[in-house]
Amino acid sequence: MKKRLLVATGGGDCPGLNAVIRAIVKRASFEPDWEILGSADAFNGVLEDPMRLIELTPQRVAGIHVQGGTILGTTNKGGPFEWPVQNPDGSWRMEDRSRDFMRRLQEMEISAVINIGGDGSQRISQGLFELGCPVIGVPKTIDNDLSDTDFTFGFQTAVDAATDALDKLVTTAASHHRILILEVMGRYAGWIALHAAIAGGAEVCLIPEIEYDIASVMRKIELRVASGKGFANIVIAEGAKPLSGGMSFTPSEEPGAMPIRLGGAGLRLAQELKDAGCAVDIRETILGHLQRGGRPNAFDRILAAQFGVKAFELALEKKWGHMVAYRHPDIVAVPISEAIKAYNFVDTRSDLVRTARGLGICLGD
Ligand code: F6P
Repeated sequence: MKKRLLVATGGGDCPGLNAVIRAIVKRASFEPDWEILGSADAFNGVLEDPMRLIELTPQRVAGIHVQGGTILGTTNKGGPFEWPVQNPDGSWRMEDRSRDFMRRLQEMEISAVINIGGDGSQRISQGLFELGCPVIGVPKTIDNDLSDTDFTFGFQTAVDAATDALDKLVTTAASHHRILILEVMGRYAGWIALHAAIAGGAEVCLIPEIEYDIASVMRKIELRVASGKGFANIVIAEGAKPLSGGMSFTPSEEPGAMPIRLGGAGLRLAQELKDAGCAVDIRETILGHLQRGGRPNAFDRILAAQFGVKAFELALEKKWGHMVAYRHPDIVAVPISEAIKAYNFVDTRSDLVRTARGLGICLGD
């Protein structure tokens, strides 16, 4: 009887997920006694009746490393610990189905699980590990907000997309003498915004880690105008907040999803600038899911491949409850419990922030 390994991709999709899946399957193909199954749509494939499992053979995963998204499907709603169930009156309640999940794994004779996902998915990994699940985590997110790893795969591709967008907006800003605001993702961290602002040469970059003072942004714009440059490019993270307020969001009505959906920071900033007397024309672009879909760049393919191979090797070593992590130049194993302890925020005293300031980028303080 072969040993069975279950792979799942959870949370938002991210460039490089398929490259991890392919690397796990390829590495496993050198061990004759292992077979790999995928769970459809995170762990929903195990929890639903009938189960939705996908046999992952080297033939099935051939060439998928260049594709965006995930061939397994994913969801950022619910999971074994919070399974959304609809009440007769149409409202929703959450059920803990983790014991049922564990029983199903036993019935399928699964000897290892690799859970590829961000902080929410790795919290699920940790919970399952505490129930005795033989699980290995692989960190994924375009937001780069998971601790204990230098980078998550998907982040660099998202930065490329944001930088490309900024490069295009710069030409319109210059030609029309406008302020162009680019709102990028990143949730509660400013990694994508800060990297794109430096790479694309923005004048202003607003991130959640530094509450912004609109007067400081106005000063930067006035200086630009006074110097004869009647345009400016602003990158704002979706989680950015003014001194006088919190993040911009709308409540989410999707059962099992995060209670809020971030968005609107760029529009709010445009209004704040107008209210502060900004005379330059302003336009806003929300990059949205364009920075999350599509092909991973070479860096993310390589990191994803390293994570996939290492994750399978950790399963061979039975290093349950560990997550693969990148500590340049090594790929190491860290306890999942450590990685989910705190978010990885931009350190406002870091060289990256110093570089932005050294380039004259206004960070809103
Ligand atoms: O965590 C990844 C991410 O893309 C965040 O940057 C963003 O806030 C969120 O997911 C968007 O999620 P959804 O796809 O559900 O709108």
